[in-house]
Amino acid sequence: MAPSFADGHSKMYKPLNLKSGDHILEVGVGTGISLTNIPDFVKVDAIDYSEPMLVKARKRQEKGEYAAKINFQQMDAHVLEFDNNQFDHSVVAHTLAVVAEPEVVLREIMRVTKSSGLIVIVNHYKDKKGIIGTIWNPFRKLLGLGKHVNFKQLIENCGLKILSEERVNRFTTHSRMLVCQIP
Ligand SMILES: C[S@@+](CC[C@H](N)C(=O)[O-])C[C@H]1O[C@@H](n2cnc3c(N)ncnc32)[C@H](O)[C@@H]1O
Repeated sequence: MAPSFADGHSKMYKPLNLKSGDHILEVGVGTGISLTNIPDFVKVDAIDYSEPMLVKARKRQEKGEYAAKINFQQMDAHVLEFDNNQFDHSVVAHTLAVVAEPEVVLREIMRVTKSSGLIVIVNHYKDKKGIIGTIWNPFRKLLGLGKHVNFKQLIENCGLKILSEERVNRFTTHSRMLVCQIP
């Protein structure tokens, strides 16, 4: 499904205006496709619950597909094994809709991200469920889009401020990229 998500993956690190030495967290990294877009002057901790996904991501790393230094770890996003305020910024793509408790995960991401930092969320998102929002929708299942999550509500519940919103993956998953600031 990589081409379906490629547009969002290529854009999601750009709003961070990365500086040399920045330390970034990517949650639910999957097979690590998004990491090919990161410059060599930052370091990234990339976590996923699925070890088979991480095996594929590490293979990309062995093949030299990443410029940045990436540390992959198997971890549950509901209980991030990182210190408070450890990361300059965090990103999470197509994952908040597949975890059991999206609010718990988003609050964990906030906890480990510096208060000056940004959190970039990329996900299929509609204000109302609609036909694509139904869990049994075969297209939704095929793309692994997970359940319908009201992202605006979720972000508001967590006390984050939305700085910008952009449509990405327009012709495939109709995702949005939400750039959020920790107050
Ligand atoms: C639809 S995939 C998206 C992968 C990648 N971010 C991308 O955009 O290509 C969702 C990912 O979330 C991971 N995931 C699901 N539940 C998780 C959890 N509780 N903790 C960490 N990762 C989780 C899955 O293993 C999967 O790799």
